[in-house]
Amino acid sequence: MHIETFELERMQSLWENLVELNLTESGIHPFTLRELLSEEEIDELLDVRLGYGWTNGEPDLRNAIAAYYPGATADNVLVTNGSAEANFLAMWSMLEPGDEIVLMLPNYMQIWGLARSLGVEVKPFYLREDHGWAPDLDEIRGLVSSKTRAIVMCNPNNPTGAVLDHSTMKEIVAIARDADAIVYADEVYKGVELNSAEGPSFRDLDDRAIVAAGLSKALAHPGLRIGWLVGPEEFIAEAWHRNDYTTITTSILSEHVATKILEPARRQAILDRNRSMLRENLALLQDWIDQRRQHFRFVPPQAGGMAFLHYDHDINSTAFTTRLRDERSLLVLPGDVYGMDHYLRLGIGERSDYLLSGLERLGQAFDEL
Ligand SMILES: Cc1ncc(COP(=O)(O)O)c(C=O)c1O
Repeated sequence: MHIETFELERMQSLWENLVELNLTESGIHPFTLRELLSEEEIDELLDVRLGYGWTNGEPDLRNAIAAYYPGATADNVLVTNGSAEANFLAMWSMLEPGDEIVLMLPNYMQIWGLARSLGVEVKPFYLREDHGWAPDLDEIRGLVSSKTRAIVMCNPNNPTGAVLDHSTMKEIVAIARDADAIVYADEVYKGVELNSAEGPSFRDLDDRAIVAAGLSKALAHPGLRIGWLVGPEEFIAEAWHRNDYTTITTSILSEHVATKILEPARRQAILDRNRSMLRENLALLQDWIDQRRQHFRFVPPQAGGMAFLHYDHDINSTAFTTRLRDERSLLVLPGDVYGMDHYLRLGIGERSDYLLSGLERLGQAFDEL
């Protein structure tokens, strides 16, 4: 089975630990265990028996996740190794060669590559920058067919940080129903909306919807490798059955910590801290852009840990970011990984002094063009 290179991840895997400044991270500065837990709770961890646990996720954790999805129970939840494994298991469970999916682009490009390798026809619709990165619903309507298995969303979106409004979400659910397809949504950035309350999940609007989420992005703990799928019971059972072939289970220590993170007060405190870091950093980025306004086009993100920026300098995005990496030890994602040259994706979830150092180097590089 041929699978194309997942450029977005490959570039980070190869370089993120070799540069001085890494602005490719799309999440928010992670916590240490000591910052997250009390001494008593850390002590509890020392007594966790290091067995397999429950391969679909400890019941306490599945219940804690289900509590964020009205109407869901632990049987609607499968705990996975990151939302990456959730996406993998979902697509592998759902799709057959010859099926079609309608996919939001730009997007975290995992499902784009994976679905095509499964023999699925991927029909993309593009978020419109001139509409604040909102989708054109007529474009989606024009793409669904009797072969459409799912309309696949990433909301909030990677890389634009755009968030679908409530009525658009309802329309997308209606389009999927009319086509006898389902909505699949990767919601791993949900919870760090910058200027509004936490938005709804597609599960709140449609009990046939399947969503992926996890602790890596909005909740700032990628190193725990905890993600999840929430969906109809039969679908979750099928994905669990396939999980026997992938990783069997997640780490029991991570599950224990994840259950603590999802306690409502603690989860809210993490999201509040993250939101305030992002707001501060976005203001710094906006200042930086304002100083060079004539060269950039920028729709500020509404959520998530990244900003997607258009530049008009006459240099290809991969050539430019390779130069940044080799000459300035600064890693930035080129728009090319999304098939969108002349864009850059900048992580804005780091500590502000780190972001400022990165922006300084980026500014020097642009000034020299
Ligand atoms: C939209 C989206 N989904 C999934 C992932 C994978 O994240 P993880 O497996 O760490 O949860 C990423 C990582 O960047 C992402 O941006």
